[in-house]
Amino acid sequence: MTEKAVDHLIERLDGLAPSTALVLGSGLGGLVDRIEHPIRVSYANLPGFPRSGVSGHAGEVVAGLFAGTPVLMLSGRAHYYEHGDAAAMRPVLEVLAGIGITKLILTNAAGSVDPDMPPGSVMLITDHINFSGTNPLIGEPSDRRFVGLTEAYDAGIRKAIERAAKATGTKLHKGVYMWFSGPCFETPAEIRMARIMGANAVGMSTVPEVILARFLGLRVAACSVVTNLAAGMTGAELSHQETKDMAPVGGSRLATVLQRLFRDGLLES
Ligand code: HPA
Repeated sequence: MTEKAVDHLIERLDGLAPSTALVLGSGLGGLVDRIEHPIRVSYANLPGFPRSGVSGHAGEVVAGLFAGTPVLMLSGRAHYYEHGDAAAMRPVLEVLAGIGITKLILTNAAGSVDPDMPPGSVMLITDHINFSGTNPLIGEPSDRRFVGLTEAYDAGIRKAIERAAKATGTKLHKGVYMWFSGPCFETPAEIRMARIMGANAVGMSTVPEVILARFLGLRVAACSVVTNLAAGMTGAELSHQETKDMAPVGGSRLATVLQRLFRDGLLES
């Protein structure tokens, strides 16, 4: 299944050989519009790729030149809460590794646990807490399942993103992302717990992809775009509409940083 998707994608890329892939979170899909000469491949044509049902996720691979660099973007991801399968992104990441991707940058929309990190902020994830009670490697038979996560978030890519943020004058928060299964938002008590446990942001994605990426030997980094203060922090109820409405605010900041990252070749240095 994976081989078919690898072959199809390589054929469609027609000689373009990106080494970096970006996964675009809710409301961040606009980044694909910054790709020059885009090659678009629907997930429907790639065996093993998810049929994402979350509004705000398109479900296509878009590859081309981003700030002069060959890059592959994934617009749309599968979430654990859609079907209870934490490994739903495994075929996708296997295909990326199969076409020669070595670096993965994940993005997501997240709630902030910290009043000093308001909506519109961008947070570079330094570490995570897996609070879902599951793991995408459950059932993996080989001893490769015992993946070390001491340095899950690649120090070199993180440094490069920090440099790009500095060069663009973008404030880049850094912090710990805590994965809740969703799909409902957290309770105020859960958010108080998250804060005590050391989380800076909470969300419903990314962590399984980080685990799978490390399992497959990909270097990985991740950035959150803060769409809201987390449950109980403002008195207002949370909604997916708010996530979609607010994501482009921080999303355009993150886009500026990522564009600089590739324009200046910071990932290579
Ligand atoms: N919680 C979980 N996931 C989210 C949130 C939140 O507050 N905002 C955006 N994604």
